[in-house]
Amino acid sequence: GVDLDKLMAKTGLVTLDPGFVNTAACTSGITYIDGDAGILRYRGYPIEELADKSNFVEVSYLLIYGELPNKQQYEEFAQRIQRHTLLHEDLKQFFDGFPRDAHPMPVLSSAVSALSTFYQDSLNPFDDQQVELSTVRLLAKLPTIAAYAYKKSVGQPFLYPDNSLGLVENFLRMTFGFPAEPYEVDPALTRALDLLFILHADHEQNCSTSTVRMVGSSEANLFASISAGINALFGPLHGGANSAVLDMLEGIRADGGDVDKFVERVKNKEPGVKLMGFGHRVYKNYDPRAKIVKKTADEVLSKLGTNDPLLDIALKLEERALSDDYFVERKLYPNVDFYTGLIYKAMGFPTKYFTVLFALGRLPGWIAHWREMLVDPQRKISRPRQVYTGQPERSFTPIEQR
Ligand code: ACO
Repeated sequence: GVDLDKLMAKTGLVTLDPGFVNTAACTSGITYIDGDAGILRYRGYPIEELADKSNFVEVSYLLIYGELPNKQQYEEFAQRIQRHTLLHEDLKQFFDGFPRDAHPMPVLSSAVSALSTFYQDSLNPFDDQQVELSTVRLLAKLPTIAAYAYKKSVGQPFLYPDNSLGLVENFLRMTFGFPAEPYEVDPALTRALDLLFILHADHEQNCSTSTVRMVGSSEANLFASISAGINALFGPLHGGANSAVLDMLEGIRADGGDVDKFVERVKNKEPGVKLMGFGHRVYKNYDPRAKIVKKTADEVLSKLGTNDPLLDIALKLEERALSDDYFVERKLYPNVDFYTGLIYKAMGFPTKYFTVLFALGRLPGWIAHWREMLVDPQRKISRPRQVYTGQPERSFTPIEQR
């Protein structure tokens, strides 16, 4: 119903691109994706190599500062993060303000937003030292916030961080440990979660990262911008997909495990029925992260001796979809989150909590983009145009005459 010729005559040239399918909002030197070839690189390094040889803290440094750290830089960075893991005692009371069955994502975004009230000495986006401080505070405190949101939901006491542990170990201990008891963190699980965090660490201008950049473009502080990104990630078409995949697999199992029947419902486009964990705006080929995750799922599940029938359903579903014209024609392949839920479940995380794990992984990417945006000489406040389709000018009618 929009007459673009008329509109252009009136407003000059405006491009209409719903969902920004073809429109670049910025230039960026952080992450490269070739969606047709299934290639993903952070700062030039292939994701497969980083997954194999690096760790999450090192990848965070790489994304944020642009280069791999040398040994001394790495140790300083890791130690700085370790020293900032504690939450302000008053912030702990914050968790009591939510109902016990609260979803952990809004708890996470609210607590991150609240960080700006506790750490007012690191809010100036144009002071390099303050930006460094807010960067480190977020990287250090988000795992603590996430673990406290979990503890609150299961009614267990909070554990203080143990700063002799690395970031992922510390997070697992604060999540699954008890205050007075020793907690042995399984190194294989630590490594698996570290790897999943690496795979989620950045993905160029996805919905949540674009949100962080957009909020930050108004010169809002880092905590406010990241809090907005967490809310964008919550949606089932984005970070919420990892929980939605598990709900879908459970649903298929409850319905007798008939994969064909489910695929037919998807193809018939029944309202609300999608093959969750499939499809991607940019990848029109197998998501390179999904390949790595599938291998990790096999390893973690066999290591834990978990014989999860949902894995069989997932494998059958994938095989069935990849040989079906509907999915082939539309180039729909598994994305990173098709298999992650099965790993998180085997690790002991409840379904509701999966998207929080995505947020922990994506944090360094969000920070890197916020910082890149702020020093971009072409930076402008994000302010898209629109194509107005409402009423033409008309006169106000008094209420008695309507
Ligand atoms: N199941 C069934 N059909 C699908 C799916 C799916 N998962 N994804 C896309 N399609 C179909 C669409 O119905 C459409 O078909 P049509 O041309 O007949 O109308 C076609 O494929 C193109 O899909 P679009 O919706 O136009 O693709 P878009 O790029 O806008 O969406 C998205 C990408 C949101 C990821 C979509 O594939 C989807 O909803 N997937 C399921 C949710 C999911 O897994 N999200 C995680 C994304 S990755 C991440 O955040 C880690």
